Amino acid sequence: MIIETERLILRPFEEKDAADMFEYLKKPSVNCFACMKLDSLEDAKEEASRRADDTDLYFAIVLKENGKVIGEIDAAPEATAPDEDNAPQDTFSPCWMLNEAYHGKGYGYEAAHAFFDYLFREKGARRIYTYTEDYNIPCQRLCEKLGMRQEGLFKEFVTFVNNPDGTPLYENTYQYAILKKEWH
Ligand SMILES: CC(C)(COP(=O)(O)OP(=O)(O)OC[C@H]1O[C@@H](n2cnc3c(N)ncnc32)[C@H](O)[C@@H]1OP(=O)(O)O)[C@@H](O)C(=O)NCCC(=O)NCCS
Repeated sequence: MIIETERLILRPFEEKDAADMFEYLKKPSVNCFACMKLDSLEDAKEEASRRADDTDLYFAIVLKENGKVIGEIDAAPEATAPDEDNAPQDTFSPCWMLNEAYHGKGYGYEAAHAFFDYLFREKGARRIYTYTEDYNIPCQRLCEKLGMRQEGLFKEFVTFVNNPDGTPLYENTYQYAILKKEWH
C-alpha cells in the first residue's frame, strides 16, 4: 500500500531505509519508544527487513523531494469485543515518530491525517485512539489538530525507563481518541 500526500509518500519499509531509520532510532526522542532503540546499522537493516513484511499498517514517512525516510507511522488493530470469536478488529492505536530534524514543519500532521483517512476509509476503523505522556506537548497538539478528544489522564500509568536511582519512572499518560463518525 502506498499513500501520497502533498509532500510525502507513506510506504512499507525496505531494507535500503536502514540508514535513515538508524538516524532517528539510535536515540529515540521520547521514553515510550526507548525499547525501539537501535544500536547499529546492522540492527537497523534487520529491523527494516522485518518491517518490510507489514505492507498494510507499518509505513515509512518519505519526503517526496528527495526520497529520504524522515520517520514512521503504524497502527496495531484491536478487537472491541475481545471475548467474541471473529470480532471485528475495528479499533486502531497508531504510533508516530519523526526524525528530530524534521519536527515542526507540518509533516507529522500531513502523515497522520492521511494515515487516519486510510484507516477509516480502507481498513474498517471505527475508533482510533492514542496514548501520549503529559509532557509531550507536540504530540498532544498533533492529536488535537487531528480532531481527537482528550479522554482521560492516567496517573503513573506506565514506565519505559528508570530514574537515575534505578527506580521505575512512572509516566502520566493522556488518552486521545476519535470515532469514524467524527472524522471529516
Ligand atoms: C509528535 C510529532 C510526530 C509531531 O510532528 P510534527 O511534524 O513535529 O508536528 P506538526 O508540525 O505537524 O505540528 C502539529 C501541531 O503540533 C504543534 N507543535 C509541533 N511541535 C510543537 C512544539 N514543539 N511545541 C508546541 N506545539 C508544537 C504544531 O504547532 C501543530 O499545531 P498547530 O498547527 O495547531 O499550530 C513529532 O514531534 C515527533 O516525532 N515527536 C517524537 C515522537 C513522539 O512524541 N511520538 C508520539 C509518542 S506518544
